[in-house]
Amino acid sequence: MLHPDPSLSGARLPWSDGQKPLMLAPMQGLTNAALREVFAGLGRPDVLFTEFVRVAPGRMPVFAARQWAAGSPAAAPLVVQLIGHDGSSLATAAQAAQQAGARHINLNLGCPHGRMTSASVGGNLLAQPERLVSMLTGLRKVVIGSFSVKLRAGYDDPGQIFSLLPMLEDAGIDFLILHPRTVTQSYAGQADHAITAAVAERTCLPVIANGDIHRAADGWQLLDQTGVAGLMLGRGAIADPLLFERLRRNVSAKPNRQQRAALLRRYLGEVADRYAGLFCGDTQVLGKIREILKLIDDPAFAKIIEKLKKCRNLELFNALLAQLE
Ligand SMILES: Cc1cc2nc3c(=O)[nH]c(=O)nc-3n(C[C@H](O)[C@H](O)[C@H](O)COP(=O)(O)O)c2cc1C
Repeated sequence: MLHPDPSLSGARLPWSDGQKPLMLAPMQGLTNAALREVFAGLGRPDVLFTEFVRVAPGRMPVFAARQWAAGSPAAAPLVVQLIGHDGSSLATAAQAAQQAGARHINLNLGCPHGRMTSASVGGNLLAQPERLVSMLTGLRKVVIGSFSVKLRAGYDDPGQIFSLLPMLEDAGIDFLILHPRTVTQSYAGQADHAITAAVAERTCLPVIANGDIHRAADGWQLLDQTGVAGLMLGRGAIADPLLFERLRRNVSAKPNRQQRAALLRRYLGEVADRYAGLFCGDTQVLGKIREILKLIDDPAFAKIIEKLKKCRNLELFNALLAQLE
């Protein structure tokens, strides 16, 4: 291990000792700075992630300190996620991010999609695990705060993760986030959290469980029945931004219709306000909001959600939202 002293690693983690952190997943096209701000005020995730930042030789991202501000005094630690195929570019990008104020860096080893995977990045790197050693150790050398990876259980074999664990431990990563599907599986079927439980038992690294946590009961079951260090919520949190608070038992795990309607009015209203300041014109703002609406699966509001998706201007959108009850 590059950092054999576990106390050193603990000091770097983006959560405090004894906490079981509830993290908002990185989601390209969704978890931009404005949406993270809305979440920081609503469900209050313990840890936030940027959408992935693409890194390639000759294509260095420009990091601005304002990107890290989640805008709220209660803002949670922010992890900057990088995706790329070239170890030296990734290390340079991690240093640039740190110079702009980033404290926590994560490497995407899970993205299953098109153009990025054809360039052997994200989940596709799991098909060439020998390339990961120098990439991970190179990043570990330059990352001062926590360095983590977010990965699938394997490229096409869900058991691959077990052969990767010694390498991940030796590379000195601080924690791993596991989405227990394979890369080739994409989003088909169910996340197999029996794999998550077995990984948490097998490794000394903190394991954060991710995948198909849609209700508080899903998360409680994972926390109670596996040795995971915390949870990461993606689509379930976009559909229900109070899922974090439900898991903490601060609000009802089974809200009634009136509570759900009030939440949707507040959530979508805040998103519309912030997106109006971030994106350009009603068409773009509503296009971005549509990505959120696609993931809201409450049958009680299916009709009005469909109408909201079809809105062509923000005035109409806000008028319809006010009718949601
Ligand atoms: C629209 C969308 C965009 C995503 N973008 C990213 C990303 O930028 N980085 C990443 O590591 N995972 C990304 N993911 C994967 C999620 O972080 C998460 O691992 C996946 O959705 C499974 O968790 P869930 O079932 O809680 O949604 C994305 C998923 C979706 C649906």
